Amino acid sequence: MIIAHSKQELEEIIAPLKEEGRTIGFVPTMGALHAGHLSLVDLARRHADKIIVSIFVNPTQFAPHEDFDAYPRDLEGDAAKLDTAGVDIVYAPRETDIYPDGKDITVKAGAMAKGLEGDFRPTHFDGVVTVVHRLFSQVQPDVAVFGEKDFQQLQVIKEMAAAERLSVEIVGGLIARDEHGLALSSRNAYLSAEELEIARKLNKILRHCAEEIARGRAVETATQEAENALLEAGFDKIDYVRFWQGRVLAAAFLGRTRLIDNIAA
Ligand code: PAF
Repeated sequence: MIIAHSKQELEEIIAPLKEEGRTIGFVPTMGALHAGHLSLVDLARRHADKIIVSIFVNPTQFAPHEDFDAYPRDLEGDAAKLDTAGVDIVYAPRETDIYPDGKDITVKAGAMAKGLEGDFRPTHFDGVVTVVHRLFSQVQPDVAVFGEKDFQQLQVIKEMAAAERLSVEIVGGLIARDEHGLALSSRNAYLSAEELEIARKLNKILRHCAEEIARGRAVETATQEAENALLEAGFDKIDYVRFWQGRVLAAAFLGRTRLIDNIAA
């Protein structure tokens, strides 16, 4: 496995692959890798000859009060996991490789960014589509894989790729969960043992809500009941529980940790 630490190093690695006609599968990440990321790597491998994983904690998708500084960073540990997973290239760019002219937002998210996360993190998706667009132009993937845990993000990126007429296929990977159903997330590392117990109830409450909606219960009633159940379970604050695009999606806080999850209804 090769690690490219700059845009130039990446270009030198990619050029011969492109000349040989190899297809590139890409998994963009912010590091702090867990089994969920590795399942996306496995999925990418089924679609392409060579696999590139980027590790970049993107400053423009964090609001000033969010956890950019605290976000876990462990390039050495991540690289070891990716090596074992058979990844070909890790791209760990410097901030100036992605933002040579300052942290400008150059791509705006479309209609899919409205509501849900967009209500509570109004600048988030513009930062996501800006970094993803720049990573795509550097990595030149044929296929890019994103996890369904960030379900709205996946729709926002598909919309951006279509609007910009990018020649990359966007593929969604299933949510990886622990044995209690908790969606794997780098932010789970922030949780105390007590918070972890509560966090594990999130997926069960959403599943119940999704089942109720599938049975014909009014969406408003089912989602309001799910919000109440989350508060009763010990969540401190609920940003939303909503039915959107055939799924129940939620964002809720345990202390300062914000968890998201979604389940098909
Ligand atoms: O989902 C993530 O980890 C990030 O939002 C992404 C897509 C890598 C962009 O920074």
